[in-house]
Amino acid sequence: MKNKKIALVTGGSKRIGAAICEELHKSDINVMIHYRDSKEDAVYLKTKLNKIRENSTDIVQGNLSKFDSYENIISKVIDKFGQLDYLVNNAASYYPTKIDALNEKDWNDLIATNLKAPLFLCQAAVKFLKEKNGSIVNITDALENNPKKNYIIYNIAKSGLASLTRSLAKDLSPDIRVNAVAPGAILWSENNQESEAGYRENLISQTFLKKQGLPENIAKAVVFLLTTALYSTGEVIHVDGGGLYK
Ligand SMILES: NC(=O)c1ccc[n+]([C@@H]2O[C@H](COP(=O)([O-])OP(=O)(O)OC[C@H]3O[C@@H](n4cnc5c(N)ncnc54)[C@H](OP(=O)(O)O)[C@@H]3O)[C@@H](O)[C@H]2O)c1
Repeated sequence: MKNKKIALVTGGSKRIGAAICEELHKSDINVMIHYRDSKEDAVYLKTKLNKIRENSTDIVQGNLSKFDSYENIISKVIDKFGQLDYLVNNAASYYPTKIDALNEKDWNDLIATNLKAPLFLCQAAVKFLKEKNGSIVNITDALENNPKKNYIIYNIAKSGLASLTRSLAKDLSPDIRVNAVAPGAILWSENNQESEAGYRENLISQTFLKKQGLPENIAKAVVFLLTTALYSTGEVIHVDGGGLYK
């Protein structure tokens, strides 16, 4: 019997990451859910998916700000499933960093989760992905070409991630395809700016489709890039209702 494909999703225990895990699982792919603090959510999702298909899902903990976490996470996937076909770099930190208040701690955190971790996780995974003609999807942000006000470091990190996607597509070719999905307004964050009156309505009004997206919209784009878009690499697909930040 042919082995099932195996995917690792960082920050996969809830919100958009959980939707990606569920969509991959629906596509008959087994999933390693990575989490940092949200163990309860990760265990809940693992239990739910394992009820659908026995032994199809496991969880792995790791703080992606720590350099030694990358090799460790990948080796846990290999110990459990024996292979790695797909890597989804979804985990992120996200908050404003105004020029007069930002500091080195913000820089280290935002760059580590959004940019450093995707690069070094890819590095740790390359050997295994190559064996399977695997594929990577990075989750960037629709603002990648047009920075969001007061989010300097996050903007830099996500633009860097789009650039990393194109670099890796070239450097890992022809064995591994690397693409990105750039979400727009999907799930709100509780940070100050996004809970200000009018902020959400204003953002949605800028989209062509005049509505908020769903986590499933992102998840389906990720699964498409991993499993179906076999002649695409180095692409960043915007899933943002059109018009955002352009
Ligand atoms: N939400 C949106 O509408 C939207 C819009 C544009 C782009 N995006 C992008 O889409 C992706 C998913 O968005 P989201 O809103 O669902 O993400 P999120 O809830 O902000 O974060 C996802 C997970 O990232 C993990 N994480 C954060 N820092 C970490 C660290 N140092 N080490 C390990 N894990 C860490 C957290 O895991 P634990 O909870 O386990 O600690 C968190 O649950 C992100 O890349 C985001 O930038 C989202």
